[in-house]
Amino acid sequence: PLLTVMLCALAYLLGSILFALPVCQLWQLPDPRAQGSGNPGATNVYRTGGWLPALVTLVLDAAKGWLPVWLAHHAQLSILSQAMVALCAVTGHMVPLFYRFQGGKGVATALGGGLALAPVTTLLLAAIWSLVMWRWRISALASIVAIVSGPVLSALLDPETLPLFGLLAILIVVRHRNNLIRLAQGREARF
Ligand code: G3P
Repeated sequence: PLLTVMLCALAYLLGSILFALPVCQLWQLPDPRAQGSGNPGATNVYRTGGWLPALVTLVLDAAKGWLPVWLAHHAQLSILSQAMVALCAVTGHMVPLFYRFQGGKGVATALGGGLALAPVTTLLLAAIWSLVMWRWRISALASIVAIVSGPVLSALLDPETLPLFGLLAILIVVRHRNNLIRLAQGREARF
C-alpha cells in the first residue's frame, strides 16, 4: 500500500512533465499550446515540427507512463495497483502540477502505461489507431476509436485490466470533447 501510494505520486509527478514543451524548445519550435489545436502533445508538435520532434515527444510522453507501471509490475503490486499507477501518470499529463494544471489529452501516456500493464491489448489498440489514422488521416479520430475499443478488447482478452481501460476511455474521450465537436461539424484538421 505504501509503495502503491509512492508510485502513484511518482507517476503523477512524471506525468506532469509535458515533454512537448522542452522538445519544442530544443527544436526552436513555437509553443504547441499557442499553435494548431493548442494541445501540448505529439500530434500538435508534428503540425509545426514534423515527424522527428513529434516522435521524440511521443516516446517521452509514453515513457513517463511506462516507467512507474513497470516499477509497480516488478514490485509485484496487484493489477489494480498497477492500474492506479497508470491512471496517475495519465492524470498528471492531463492536469499537470507544473503548468497550472493545464495539460494534454493523455493518449501517449496511456500508451506507455498500457504497454507496461497489458502489452497485447495495448498493441492491438495501437494497431487500431494506425488503421484509422491511415484511412482517415485524423489523429483525434484515431485516438477516440482506439481508446473506446480498449474496454471491449480488455473485456475479451484480460478482464482484470477492464477497470483501467474503462477509466482511460472515459478520461481520454472527455479530453477530446473539442475534437469531437469539430469532428461532428466536419472541421477537424486532417493530415
Ligand atoms: O493525442 C491527441 C490527439 O488525439 C489529438 O491531438 O492536437 O489533434 O487535438 P490534436
